Amino acid sequence: MPAISASAPGKIILLGEHAVVYARRAIAIPVSQVQARTVITPLVRQPAGYIQVQAVNLQLDAPLAELPADDPIRQAVELTLGALNVQRAPAMHIRIHSSIPIAAGLGSGAAVSVAVIRAVSTYLGKPLPVEDVSALAYEVEKTYHGTPSGIDNTVIAYHQPVLFQKGQPIQPFSPGGKFTFLIADTGISAATREQVSGVRERWQADPAAYESLFDRIDALSGQAFQSLQAGDTEMTGRWMTENHHLLQQMGVSCSQLDELVNAALEHGALGAKLSGAGGGGNMIALVSDEHARSVEDALRSHGARQVIQTGLE
Ligand code: MEV
Repeated sequence: MPAISASAPGKIILLGEHAVVYARRAIAIPVSQVQARTVITPLVRQPAGYIQVQAVNLQLDAPLAELPADDPIRQAVELTLGALNVQRAPAMHIRIHSSIPIAAGLGSGAAVSVAVIRAVSTYLGKPLPVEDVSALAYEVEKTYHGTPSGIDNTVIAYHQPVLFQKGQPIQPFSPGGKFTFLIADTGISAATREQVSGVRERWQADPAAYESLFDRIDALSGQAFQSLQAGDTEMTGRWMTENHHLLQQMGVSCSQLDELVNAALEHGALGAKLSGAGGGGNMIALVSDEHARSVEDALRSHGARQVIQTGLE
């Protein structure tokens, strides 16, 4: 059997994080500048059923059977074998490498799951269709994140800009013009699970206030969906910045994220907001070609550890 490889991109949420957990609309795009990659090679000397997992970034190199039952890589492999009705797979070595920062809002967990599910199913000669890849990655997300909306596995598996709403068919879309985003990392790692459960506690304590925040975010996602398709960068930026203010009220921003958002806006960004679960991680700024350089410099001088440029055309 020849070696098989599969990759999956990172993602950013343009609008609607957290509210999307409560069935409101959100918009996400894949970020191909960072990738999770899985390579599977046969292990000819091992018996059928033996699987060795090497996750380079996690300094993990162990037999699959020795990983904890809720380990996300183990889950991704076992769910794939289960979906394909494979009891004893031919012995294999699964190597995972990712350039997506962990716990930074860029979808690293979902990307690893998608790359593993794709690689394992392809290796077994039964590549799964995208909807099954996404559905299995969602199962892994549930164990890892508690109550995920499904937006991360969807945008990453489909590798397309999407308007996403839980329980609704996904709406891939094409932008009506060029959009350039800078993604800046605070360097603070923040677990999605904790941010999501923090919002849940505050929502339970004051449902009326939080339902209203979610509704306002939903409306912004709807407006931004129109602006993106119309190629209107100015209005898209405005909806993004308004979304950041609502996320602040939801208690998921932090001083470093706010500082980067303000620095981007002061240096000419069309819009800026935290992206993903918040509490740290990354923020995004929508920039014109003219201001891209000055905004990037400002982000770095205000503490961004890394700035990635991505876009839609
Ligand atoms: C995480 O990328 C986005 C959140 O809305 C969680 C989710 O949708 O599952 C914070």
